[in-house]
Amino acid sequence: MAIGIVCIGAVYIDTILSVPKFPNEDEKLRATSHTRRRGGNCTNTLEVLSQLVEQSEQTFEEARAHLYLLSVLPARQSTDVQFISQSIPDTNIDSGCIFREGFENAASSYIIRSAANNSRTIVSHNSLPEMTTQEFIDGASAIRGQSKVEQHWFHFEGRIPVVTEASVRWLSGNFPTAKISVECEKPERDYMVHVSREADVAFFSRIWAEANSYNDPRTFLGDQIEYMKPGAILVCTWGAAGATCVYNKTGRREDSEWANTTAWKPTTESVEVVDTIGAGDTFIAGFLYALNCQGQWTLQRKLEFANELAGRKVLQSGFGGLAERMSLS
Ligand code: FRU
Repeated sequence: MAIGIVCIGAVYIDTILSVPKFPNEDEKLRATSHTRRRGGNCTNTLEVLSQLVEQSEQTFEEARAHLYLLSVLPARQSTDVQFISQSIPDTNIDSGCIFREGFENAASSYIIRSAANNSRTIVSHNSLPEMTTQEFIDGASAIRGQSKVEQHWFHFEGRIPVVTEASVRWLSGNFPTAKISVECEKPERDYMVHVSREADVAFFSRIWAEANSYNDPRTFLGDQIEYMKPGAILVCTWGAAGATCVYNKTGRREDSEWANTTAWKPTTESVEVVDTIGAGDTFIAGFLYALNCQGQWTLQRKLEFANELAGRKVLQSGFGGLAERMSLS
């Protein structure tokens, strides 16, 4: 069965400066390297998803997924949009994206990647007016009208909680066969918790759970179950400690299936963390791929797959060639 996976969120162009250690305020520091690449949570996810889909289509005919971006971008003819579309050539941007014709520049992030602590400090700027609920509805309707697939999956990065909530509600009312996943990453977007309760899959970050006074993912997820939709899957990543997820079959805590994994590490070579930017987005790509294209895998296998993919990502710069390193059979 073919599926259309639609990712909704902001697209950034990342300028990454690698430094030996994070600078002090008002200090001058020489970077060891400088990279400019397309970023943004949902586009990072799409880039990895497209590799996985392409690789698995060579083996499994039926595992077909069509990828769509639903995002605010600058003018269609701008250099930034060309740069963005070339970076995700297998993703359809024309059906759902909102092109702000008066604008030349995409949102940008300036990222200091410090080798001393493997930290990535992000300062971002976005002058593009955010997506409205009506623009989401128009984009989603256009994708629905144009895509020739039996099933749709909408993944929300969850930027503007009010718009995300209204968009999810609209989908539930007008497009009930669509499946929905949401990311609850930044605790200051606390309103996203309401949105997560309407979702089929919710991805929570460690900082989200910690901001809600939890010290471990299992207790955190266990306390969310009764508020979620029956049949929902809740996932919580915990950095170096791995990831946990729960499939809530009926809405009752007792009927839940759990999966848990420690962080993935390569077995042989001693390797260094190179680039953590987008590791969470890579995890989401792995989990969405496993759910949509490898339905026969157990919940444990799906979680381990996403965890390994994210673990491999931090050992390399960017996202290139990740799918080739994974076993998809
Ligand atoms: C990583 C990332 C970067 C982007 C920033 C936006 O997850 O998507 O690519 O600049 O976060 O918050």
